[in-house]
Amino acid sequence: MSRKKIALVGGGQIGGILALICAQKELGDVVVIDIPEAEGMVKGKALDIMQARPHDGYDSDLSGSGDFSDLKDADVVAITAGVPRKPGMTREDLLATNLNIISNVAENVKKFAPEAFVIVVSNPLDAIVYAFHKVSGFPKNRVVGMAGALDNARFRTFIAMETGMSVQDVSCIVMGGHGPTMVPLIRTATVGGVPLTDILSRKEIDAIVTRVQEAGTELVKLYGKGSAFFSPAAAITEMIEAYLKDKKRVIPSAAFCEGEYGIDGYFIGVPAVIGAGGVERILEVELTEQESNLLGSTLEKVKATVAETGL
Ligand code: APR
Repeated sequence: MSRKKIALVGGGQIGGILALICAQKELGDVVVIDIPEAEGMVKGKALDIMQARPHDGYDSDLSGSGDFSDLKDADVVAITAGVPRKPGMTREDLLATNLNIISNVAENVKKFAPEAFVIVVSNPLDAIVYAFHKVSGFPKNRVVGMAGALDNARFRTFIAMETGMSVQDVSCIVMGGHGPTMVPLIRTATVGGVPLTDILSRKEIDAIVTRVQEAGTELVKLYGKGSAFFSPAAAITEMIEAYLKDKKRVIPSAAFCEGEYGIDGYFIGVPAVIGAGGVERILEVELTEQESNLLGSTLEKVKATVAETGL
């Protein structure tokens, strides 16, 4: 059986780490594609990782390219092409630049990898994944945005840190747009099946929720230039693996809703089943009135950014 082909469009901070993790997990051969000016950089990263392989003994091949034709017949395409935030910027501030970039990338993915499962990561996520879908014309099950996987991991991380219990046993759902209006569903949070509300006080939980909503911004401030990259790369890998291994993982993802949660025609964070069919199903949680209202507010925010794309 030949290996799967994983194409990473954008070989910057996230793309480089993502290439390393995909190779370490032997998910497939990895090609990292960037703009022609950055071809040396991505060729360098690929060659560098190739030379790390003997230590752990993984056999995935890596290459770098400045040419979109190297997307050819990729099984999975993960897109981080674009600019990241600097301190003081919102994700929405990136829209004009990243919209131009995604339009060009979408044309090329359509041309060279028309059967791929595409994971969009560039921000503002919910609008950029929408733009990819519009420009490429890909079916909705083969286009998804990576945001919820990371927001969920952040929620799990802070719960584990606050309770002092294993992150492995923490489970929860985060819905909505990728930004401060996201909706961590507190009543779904459990540690080893025990409701979080039985372990922490409401005040402690509220503090965690606020930190989750601002987690990306906390990192932007700490880094001083650029945004999170280790955790997004790990989150993308989880989605790639779910697809390639047909795992039917339930991962909060920016999926195209057509009636689910009363949302029509937008990508937004919802619990999605990811397997060989891509986004195979969206799970509908019965929401309380308060949760519904919060989802309504985050949807308004997503709609406003999508409207700015003019698509
Ligand atoms: N085609 C391919 N690659 C591109 C293009 C393009 N048209 N335009 C820019 N790039 C590349 C850049 O050359 C750079 O190598 O995208 C890469 C982006 O890398 P970084 O600047 O290091 O950004 P990163 O931290 O990886 O984040 C990428 O993900 O989380 C989001 O907000 C973040 O939008 C940002 C994206």
